[in-house]
Amino acid sequence: MSHLFISTSCHSARTPVKIFIKMFSRLAKPSTVTFIVSRSFCKTSQAWQSPKVAVLGAGGGIGQPLSLLLKNSAKIASLSLYDIAHTPGVAADLSHIDTRAHVTGHLGPASLEACLTDANVVLIPAGVPRKPGMTRDDLFNTNAGIVRDLVSAIGDFCPKAMICIITNPVNSTVPIAAEVLKKKGVYDPRRLFGVTTLDIVRSNAFVAEAKELDVSKLNVPVMGGHSGVTIIPVISQANPSVSFPPEERKKISERIQNAGTEVVEAKAGAGSATLSMAYAASRFTFSLLEAMAGGEGQVECAYVQSEETDAAFFSTPLLLGKNGVEKNLGRGKLIDYEMQLLDAAMPELKKNIQAGVDFVNKS
Ligand SMILES: NC(=O)c1ccc[n+]([C@@H]2O[C@H](COP(=O)([O-])OP(=O)(O)OC[C@H]3O[C@@H](n4cnc5c(N)ncnc54)[C@H](O)[C@@H]3O)[C@@H](O)[C@H]2O)c1
Repeated sequence: MSHLFISTSCHSARTPVKIFIKMFSRLAKPSTVTFIVSRSFCKTSQAWQSPKVAVLGAGGGIGQPLSLLLKNSAKIASLSLYDIAHTPGVAADLSHIDTRAHVTGHLGPASLEACLTDANVVLIPAGVPRKPGMTRDDLFNTNAGIVRDLVSAIGDFCPKAMICIITNPVNSTVPIAAEVLKKKGVYDPRRLFGVTTLDIVRSNAFVAEAKELDVSKLNVPVMGGHSGVTIIPVISQANPSVSFPPEERKKISERIQNAGTEVVEAKAGAGSATLSMAYAASRFTFSLLEAMAGGEGQVECAYVQSEETDAAFFSTPLLLGKNGVEKNLGRGKLIDYEMQLLDAAMPELKKNIQAGVDFVNKS
């Protein structure tokens, strides 16, 4: 009895394999066909069915509720939690929840390899948050080094992972990450995101409230960067469209730009936005995982390497795909008021980006 062995990978589409069997069986007429599925090839595509998500800074104000929201999702097979404090407890607590994700806790730099190996998506909310009176830029000195070191470990242990940076100042921490990855020769701009989703979530909430719309059906894009004047709400591109008298448009746009400070002041020294940020980061992660699994039409705004302006990084709506950014959908047509916001944003944004680049290259 002849026996045909076909070695294939999980990447192979069914059709080509079928054609191959048909062609080969004409020649060999085997009575048995055995598939040997190559494990090494399989790892990548199986990953979309069993994704591993790592959270670095999982013990913090954002990290804990974010990890809870991720644990609550059936999309995630493995949830790997890292911090320099609290993670054994957070992981033990979450692991008792009867949902799919297998949770592991990792404490301290020596455990980064175990945390990151085979991760498909890495979220970084590690670092210090603002206190009243601080700008996001005031966090630079502490958070720049934290992001540099964590991204360096990502470059070593899971260089193909999607990297989603939450740590402020996002305008600078994303360029820092890019420079670190470039130095390691593993930078793929399609896979590096600054998470600005909270700006969109806030815009949706504020505009829906002002216009008495169903917030679940509203999408208000926010472009540019993620601090003060660099946040550019593009209400003219809201879907469904909304109209505001100029003064009201200005007021609501400024509220969106300063919404983080609203929370910092309300918390009066106890930190910045954590719960809404966790929600926003989970929304971004789920869209990304859906796109990585082949789901079509996943569009999110995020701060990425971009050619939309003369700043090296800029947030616009992105079509997400299996490899991260599939297509930058661009900034579209802005009305005069939004063009003024763009003009005001650019010098600050470019300065923030340069500070990130210099931090890596001059330190
Ligand atoms: N992108 C956004 O829209 C957005 C919104 C809100 C807050 N943030 C930022 O997110 C960051 C975290 O905010 P938070 O409120 O969760 O702060 P937090 O202080 O509550 O938590 C930060 C966590 O990071 C951990 N950490 C510190 N150094 C670390 C290191 N080297 N490696 C791993 N973990 C480390 C801490 O132990 C802590 O558990 C801040 O930088 C904040 O400004 C971003």
